[in-house]
Amino acid sequence: MYRTHTCGELRLADVGKEVTLSGWVQRVRDKGTLLWVDLRDRYGITQLFMQEGVTPSEVIEKARSLGREYVIQVKGVVIERESKNPNMPTGDIEIKVQMINILTVSKIPPFTIEDKSDGGDELRMKYRYLDLRRNPLKNNIILRHNMAIQTRNYLSSNGFLEIETPCLIKSTPEGARDFVVPSRMNPGEFYALPQSPQQFKQLLMVAGFDRYFQIVRCFRDEDLRADRQPEFTQIDCEMSFVEQDDVLNMFEGLVKHLFKEVKGIEFEQFPRITWHDAMKYYGSDKPDIRFGMRFVELTDLVKGKNFPVFDDAELVVGINAQGCAGYTRKQIDALTDFVKRPQVGAKGLVYVKYNEDGTVKSSVDKFYTSDDLKIWLDRFEAKPGDMLLILSGKAMETRTQLNVLRLEMGNQLGLRNPDNYKPLWVVDFPLLEWDEETQRYYAMHHPFTAPKPEDEYLLEDETQWGKIRANAYDIVLNGVEVGGGSIRIHDSNLQGKMFHTLGFTEEKAKEQFGFLMNAFEYGAPPHAGLAFGFDRLCALFGGQDSIRDFIAFPKNNMGRDMMAESPSPISEEQLEELQIKLDLKQ
Ligand code: AMO
Repeated sequence: MYRTHTCGELRLADVGKEVTLSGWVQRVRDKGTLLWVDLRDRYGITQLFMQEGVTPSEVIEKARSLGREYVIQVKGVVIERESKNPNMPTGDIEIKVQMINILTVSKIPPFTIEDKSDGGDELRMKYRYLDLRRNPLKNNIILRHNMAIQTRNYLSSNGFLEIETPCLIKSTPEGARDFVVPSRMNPGEFYALPQSPQQFKQLLMVAGFDRYFQIVRCFRDEDLRADRQPEFTQIDCEMSFVEQDDVLNMFEGLVKHLFKEVKGIEFEQFPRITWHDAMKYYGSDKPDIRFGMRFVELTDLVKGKNFPVFDDAELVVGINAQGCAGYTRKQIDALTDFVKRPQVGAKGLVYVKYNEDGTVKSSVDKFYTSDDLKIWLDRFEAKPGDMLLILSGKAMETRTQLNVLRLEMGNQLGLRNPDNYKPLWVVDFPLLEWDEETQRYYAMHHPFTAPKPEDEYLLEDETQWGKIRANAYDIVLNGVEVGGGSIRIHDSNLQGKMFHTLGFTEEKAKEQFGFLMNAFEYGAPPHAGLAFGFDRLCALFGGQDSIRDFIAFPKNNMGRDMMAESPSPISEEQLEELQIKLDLKQ
């Protein structure tokens, strides 16, 4: 028997017991006649104790030969510690060692296996299995497990069936780029890895399963960021015979269940905001509502005072940075540089300081009187000590820029505490999005999303397409889109119309989505669904922005697995079998 207990479980009540433990050597402290070893496994650390003259000398000798991360088995008796460590669950006891058995030796690890490691990112990715031994990562993986179990509990108890859908599917050109897999048996033909099981889950509704879910891997060949991986996991769900409220309530219920079970936090009903208002008041379809600082528009107040920047602007809009009137010239210059960076793209930043003494100072004093500025301040309900930060230009661009500035001010003022959770629903997304580059409309969500019934007639008039609202919704947590879904089109005529709107000829639509269109001719129930980004949800529950450390074996920013060194070339034989000739343009 390798062990009678884990390294995390022995307590004062176990004193006197003969135990066997197995684990990794965290460290050895050799104080001459006294010797301690910290033994670690997934469950914790237990201190081993040896003393010259008491412990058999061959055992002490073996202990002195131990290196970090050796795997050992020890036998001994649990004793009360002389100097207890209240920071460790096992800190009241130690093991008086009688036997040590070295199970495997270890090379010196390339970085320290401590909560704060000395290893850089690259190195830790290369030796991911060592990094996973560290508490922060290990705890993330355990959190992920708990989230998955609780998800299954909730959905299963609400009648959802977990059904697997294929990984080798047909390539469809919507959304992100597909990862493709060549077929040996069908030379020249390719499967795609699913960007999501969207069409399959809709087919499962046609098949009558009524409620489906899957914790499922999805693949998207897109540019990577902290919250994006080329393969990531969704909690993918679909329901039949439901309206939008049914869906929102069901999945709000899931998020509440997770918060309650995993973090012990309870919520009232999540707020809902339309996409239009989210853009108007936050400049983002995923507003961070942990703090206010809502946008206030000044366009109607600022015109005709010979300030050309505002006179020419479609939109003049700002935020009130409360308590920031004391910002120095240098701080304001830094904010100006921040919004002028190419990533943000603002032309400049106007500030209005409402000084504590009631006076007003702005960067546009040349054009506006104190009285003018007081009217602006009133609209913001600003108080002495506040500072307005104002941007102007084309409406959507300016909103997007002000969103970046608002989030930055939220950071600077410490208003974005990761332990403060503020979920909300964003509803009524536009159905279609115009793309300047290709000069056509794309589905903002995906081509199966239903327009709002009251907007459906607008499909007949191409000039109105941009105005059509969809029955589509996102769930947002602390400024992160953690899930999205929609009511689906279940009528093949409307689906046909939608494909036409998206620029598909009838043949092309048949070729790409024929099986779904066919299925819809055999009695499709009204249905709707949603998918959560499971990695993102886990990261937020873990209080972090990056999803990477909530995935056991993630890819780096170049989509590479640094440990296994993939992607990698394949052999000539493999290529030949697939009848693929490489002609790489270097
Ligand atoms: P969508 O494309 O919005 O919807 O994806 C759902 C959620 O998945 C997460 N997500 C990602 N997480 C990590 N890395 C990525 N590259 C990545 N891409 C997306 C996000 C997102 O909200 N089939 C539809 C859902 C539906 O309509 O039911 C879909 O896939 O958190």
